[in-house]
Amino acid sequence: MVRKLMAGLSVAAVLGLAACGGSSGGSGSVLKYPGGGSASAGKTLFLGAGGCSACHTVAGTSAAGQIGPDLSHVGSALTPDQIYTQISDPKPRPAPYATPPRQGVAMPQNSLTTQQRADLTAWLSTLK
Ligand code: HEC
Repeated sequence: MVRKLMAGLSVAAVLGLAACGGSSGGSGSVLKYPGGGSASAGKTLFLGAGGCSACHTVAGTSAAGQIGPDLSHVGSALTPDQIYTQISDPKPRPAPYATPPRQGVAMPQNSLTTQQRADLTAWLSTLK
């Protein structure tokens, strides 16, 4: 399967992360950011139709949500793969996704396209 080849190709890229892994992943597998995202499209989506700003704050923008983690520096905390994973398969995750969210509210599933998820990832990755 193609996926197997891809996994092989990305091994070198994730070695640094895998080195400190070891615990059984279970539901914690990280998806691969496919690339090709447009940061400007992602910003527009985040602040508008995506609805992300209802829950998340990003300093210097109109996003001031107080329900989920502050994403002002998410590009320093998470890799693009981790950001893409959270957007594609939202759920509470262990560190390094562990910026404490408000109690009792989980990030909802969404029906965004792969391109939209890539756009959001491209923008959020710039937030250092
Ligand atoms: C209903 C509130 C809500 C909405 C809407 C929402 N999120 Fe979240 N988000 C959360 C919560 C809560 C978390 C923490 C993980 C969890 O408990 O689910 C989170 C986590 C994240 C994280 C990981 C942050 C970290 O430090 O671990 C990213 C990235 C993220 N959200 C991006 C988005 C994007 C992009 C959108 C729009 C498509 C979005 N979120 C919409 C509530 C929300």
